[in-house]
Amino acid sequence: DRRNRRVAVFGAGYIGLVTGACLAELGHRVVVRDIDPEKVRVLQGGDVPIYEPGLGDMITRNKERLTFTLDLDEALAEAEVAYVCVDTPPSVSGDADLSKVWSVVRSLAAAPHLHTVVMKSTVPVGTGVRARAALDEAGLTATGYASNPEFTAEGRAVNDFMNPDRIVIGADEPATAVLIAELHSGIDAPVVTMDVRSAEMVKLASNALLATKISFANEIATLCENTGADAMEVLGAVGLDHRLGPHFLRPGIGWGGSCFPKDSEALRQLASNTGFHPPLLSAVIDVNNIQKRRAIQKLKDVLGDLAGREIVLLGMAFKPGTDDMREAPSAVLASRLQAEGASVRCWDPLARPSAAEPWLSARRYASPEEALDGADAAVVVTEWAQLRDVDWGRVAQLMRRPVLFDGRNLLDPAEMRELGFTYMSVGRP
Ligand code: UDX
Repeated sequence: DRRNRRVAVFGAGYIGLVTGACLAELGHRVVVRDIDPEKVRVLQGGDVPIYEPGLGDMITRNKERLTFTLDLDEALAEAEVAYVCVDTPPSVSGDADLSKVWSVVRSLAAAPHLHTVVMKSTVPVGTGVRARAALDEAGLTATGYASNPEFTAEGRAVNDFMNPDRIVIGADEPATAVLIAELHSGIDAPVVTMDVRSAEMVKLASNALLATKISFANEIATLCENTGADAMEVLGAVGLDHRLGPHFLRPGIGWGGSCFPKDSEALRQLASNTGFHPPLLSAVIDVNNIQKRRAIQKLKDVLGDLAGREIVLLGMAFKPGTDDMREAPSAVLASRLQAEGASVRCWDPLARPSAAEPWLSARRYASPEEALDGADAAVVVTEWAQLRDVDWGRVAQLMRRPVLFDGRNLLDPAEMRELGFTYMSVGRP
């Protein structure tokens, strides 16, 4: 029955959990398998180890059809379809590290009912060919293989999965593509079918173009600062051209997260491996590295030497609505500030600073006001809505020097200056 497939999902990270929960919601019977005992224990106990709106409710609602296990045999016993949802972190060479992918693929040899393997992990173009060979080697010659990339954004992943702009399926046999499309029945979205390599590339190209739009907006914002134009007006009007679109043109403090930095580097490496050094993609990455450091120069312009200054980072997560700090601009800022001799204070409603440098010596505060009390300057790193509700008039009195770099253009320049702030933002005069 196409509405009631038996699915095994390998990997209980962001993608695996969302995929597992959504497939269960669509009516399939899903076992999610992870090798991390603590994660599985938490999930079996009915809790969700990550912050993702709607995910906990969806898991609870589908608990008849959705189980979690550490046990490989249990995951494989009934599985007709196996989803590979493990992480593919960068390796030393810059290529994606596929060791977890291969370990899952090899383990599938023991699945008695398996007829399809679906790759959800973000992988280099050409992985499908190697996966096919690995499946054949494991004796799974009759098992179909498909690339089905994921375009969900953190903080809205459940909604993105259930209401996607498109479902991309790369499969070498039409029957496999049909089966994956049927797995999604209940979701109203165009299904785009292509060969495996092209599907692998769609994911990388989509993320690279989104990152390009942001880097472009950031570069225009710098140009606006240098020429007296207002980037918000400019980019707002640019985005009204339907050929360009309004999305991902918001200038800020640079893009971060678990996808853009990793995937753009992986695509650059993939290109280099073919003997091509992609100038545009390289510039997109460069602009982002520059953007993440611009706050430091702006603070120096006002404060001079940063040594001994108390600087507050408002927001640590790479974007609001998540606790995720992977590749967050806040970490680069904390590290640079400490290198300048400043001491770093931080606040975030969800994210917890890791034990790693540069957070080791950063002091964490429970509210923006507490963090700002007595500080020399602050940077809005993440556009948390809570920051709009801060009583900035009072904060101007609490701070040793009311200096604020609003890296997300969250606050109103005129109002902030009226309250006594030396207020700087991105691309606004
Ligand atoms: C992204 C893609 O949106 C998603 O399709 C893909 O599957 C994974 O990568 P995510 O990393 O969760 O999702 O975050 P997203 O909301 O896209 O933001 C990425 C980064 O860009 C954040 O650091 C955000 O602050 C920044 N950003 C986004 C901007 O600076 N300006 C914008 O206009 C949009």
